[in-house]
Amino acid sequence: MNARNSLVRSVTFLATSVGLVVGSLSFIAGCSSVPPAPGDGGDGTNGGPTSTKFAGADTCMPCHSGMHANWQATPHATALGTLEAIGQGENAACLGCHTVGFNDDGFVSRAETPALAGVQCENCHGASADHAANPGDLAIRPFVDLSAALCGTCHTDAHHPTFDEWQHSKHATALEGLRSNPFAQDTCLKCHSQDYRHAVEEQEGESGVVVPTLATAQLSIECATCHAPHGGVAQDHQLRQPIASLCGECHTQEEAELGDTPHHPQLEMLTGIGAFDADGSGLELTHVHSGLAASGGAACAQCHVVGHEVEEPNEGNPNVTGHTFNPFDSEITAASPEHQAEQYTGCRGCHTDSVANELRVTLQTDLAARLDALAPFFDVSSTSFIDADTLSAVDQARLATAKFDFQFVAADGSNGVHNPALSRGALDVAEQIVNDLTGQ
Ligand code: HEC
Ligand code: HEC
Ligand code: HEC
Ligand code: HEC
Ligand code: HEC
Ligand code: HEC
Ligand code: HEC
Ligand code: HEC
Ligand code: HEC
Repeated sequence: MNARNSLVRSVTFLATSVGLVVGSLSFIAGCSSVPPAPGDGGDGTNGGPTSTKFAGADTCMPCHSGMHANWQATPHATALGTLEAIGQGENAACLGCHTVGFNDDGFVSRAETPALAGVQCENCHGASADHAANPGDLAIRPFVDLSAALCGTCHTDAHHPTFDEWQHSKHATALEGLRSNPFAQDTCLKCHSQDYRHAVEEQEGESGVVVPTLATAQLSIECATCHAPHGGVAQDHQLRQPIASLCGECHTQEEAELGDTPHHPQLEMLTGIGAFDADGSGLELTHVHSGLAASGGAACAQCHVVGHEVEEPNEGNPNVTGHTFNPFDSEITAASPEHQAEQYTGCRGCHTDSVANELRVTLQTDLAARLDALAPFFDVSSTSFIDADTLSAVDQARLATAKFDFQFVAADGSNGVHNPALSRGALDVAEQIVNDLTGQ
């Protein structure tokens, strides 16, 4: 990772430690409206190309034709047209994020520099004229930057605070979160690190790719984890996967069996599988919420990636893009009354806000109490702990079922909302077994 990124990322940590999204937002929005052009380089600080000249995407086309064709179909390619359509095509306050190299020896105007209109290759890879003229020279190969900070040079500010929200999300710290865990190992990186994921993907095509380890990985769940920067995918918003399956790639307990500890079983919980019945067979119970995934709908994003616009976006009260991934985060809802009012946007169409709130609070309170009541039976330090060694083989198996179902509901983290039917069903099984074993 180059120096520019480590710099941006240490700023990221600072901003994150401010806490509230609004705090980090005003921090970021303090930047000028013209973002630093990635790779404007020459001073060696960004490790990028030594070229100071922009070439324009047409120059890249002969050698990178597939990527060029994909990119051309994305909204990035027509970003200047978007300004022109509303009479802002010459507004200097807008051009920095809608063209290549504005105020940086790049775009001047549609008439003078037509080749540099829109968001192009060189917004993300740095000025590359020298590389285009001399592609064999490895010393001047354009940089490839997988970090959210790259996208965040433009996808920021009160109108579209996507980067600012992401910084506040746990996705932004997934690598640190992993490293703080004593059981962490390299294979865990497949769901916790974008540079690891990218290298593994590349490795399938090329040999000699260096795959990061727990010690060397740099990036968490970045924009490019979920979005394909060049497009070329069938999904809206350049999503790498259908929205119905995007989150479940990681938010899954995978092949957890009886005896294992289930982690993040949100996919299984939502779709209605993954727990065990008293006899050790699969317990399957779907709910209307399961249909959000089953029908190829928005699934998790229906409730978790929900944006809304406010009347007059400003630093203290920005638009919301849904990129905290949790509209129920109390820090977000506390940040502004308008955000508080919109936290149930994803439930509308099926529930009114007040019903959704009431159902949620009632269910979560009930399930949290049931989880609390069960916890001591599986806690070694509690006097109620059920010691498997004192049980017959048959009862040991039943205890394992109870423990799994308890952990399954607890690890899901929604306290019932993902699937009220399966959450209740799994706790029924766990309670029944515990009552039998303790003679209650
Ligand atoms: C004359 C052919 C040619 C032109 C024109 C050209 N490239 Fe390349 N580019 C290459 C070759 C060859 C490579 C190395 C491919 C490889 O690593 O397998 C490359 C690699 C790259 C890489 C990847 C670097 C890496 O480390 O993986 C980027 C990014 C890139 N080019 C961007 C551009 C951009 C932007 C333009 C237009 C301004 C451009 N190229 C124009 C031939 C070209
Ligand atoms: C130089 C500024 C800039 C950079 C850097 C940038 N974007 Fe954008 N992006 C824009 C602008 C401007 C638009 C709006 C284009 C339009 O609609 O005219 C946009 C649009 C998009 C869209 C389409 C939105 C939709 O509704 O489908 C996606 C997705 C996107 N960007 C993702 C990314 C990702 C991912 C990165 C980093 C890998 C990135 N962008 C880097 C400026 C930028
Ligand atoms: C800090 C970078 C930045 C600046 C400065 C900027 N834009 Fe954008 N603009 C973006 C990004 C990023 C998007 C894509 C937002 C998305 O899809 O979430 C965008 C999208 C848009 C869109 C598409 C509709 C929408 O709101 O999504 C319009 C219109 C627009 N910008 C107009 C303007 C105007 C007018 C100005 C100057 C007053 C301006 N922009 C300045 C980054 C910027
Ligand atoms: C919005 C930012 C963005 C734009 C615009 C963009 N790229 Fe990229 N490019 C990336 C990122 C991020 C990667 C890393 C691979 C990935 O995430 O798919 C990448 C990877 C590459 C690679 C190396 C392949 C690899 O996976 O390592 C080449 C070559 C490349 N881009 C060329 C281009 C060309 C040519 C254009 C213009 C036609 C372009 N890019 C436009 C962000 C961008
Ligand atoms: C299949 C994808 C996947 C793999 C593999 C994975 N994780 Fe995670 N991890 C997640 C997801 C998703 C979350 C967030 C889930 C949640 O909060 O419910 C998470 C959260 C975490 C957390 C923070 C949440 C907490 O419990 O406080 C830690 C620590 C963690 N994982 C450690 C690990 C370790 C150690 C490994 C390897 C042994 C690993 N993970 C492998 C997907 C994965
Ligand atoms: C964990 C996956 C994930 C990550 C990480 C992610 N996004 Fe998204 N993004 C989504 C999903 C899902 C949607 C579509 C939401 C919908 O349509 O309901 C979306 C939508 C968008 C849109 C278009 C929606 C709009 O606001 O108009 C843009 C632009 C965008 N993302 C940019 C980014 C940028 C920039 C980053 C990094 C700062 C990022 N995303 C990180 C999942 C992700
Ligand atoms: C590449 C793997 C990956 C993908 C894809 C992914 N996540 Fe995550 N997610 C994680 C990891 C890892 C964490 C935990 C990070 C930590 O706590 O250190 C996490 C954390 C979260 C959290 C916070 C949990 C908490 O404890 O507060 C939410 C909510 C979340 N993800 C929702 C989503 C949604 C919605 C999507 C799809 C739009 C998605 N995730 C896609 C890996 C992923
Ligand atoms: C019907 C709406 C809905 C759907 C669909 C949904 N969620 Fe949730 N999710 C919630 C609610 C509500 C919570 C509880 C949030 C709270 O109480 O703070 C939650 C909690 C979570 C948490 C724990 C957050 C935390 O702070 O610990 C994660 C992680 C999560 N969901 C991920 C997902 C994933 C991944 C999917 C898809 C497989 C999904 N959700 C589908 C509504 C939904
Ligand atoms: C696709 C439509 C749909 C969406 C979207 C949806 N729900 Fe539901 N939900 C239902 C239906 C139908 C029921 C079952 C009828 C009932 O119990 O009133 C239900 C039941 C519930 C229950 C369980 C009540 C109980 O105790 O059994 C809760 C809690 C709930 N929803 C919360 C939410 C929340 C919070 C959201 C948004 C984050 C949401 N729902 C989004 C359709 C939906």
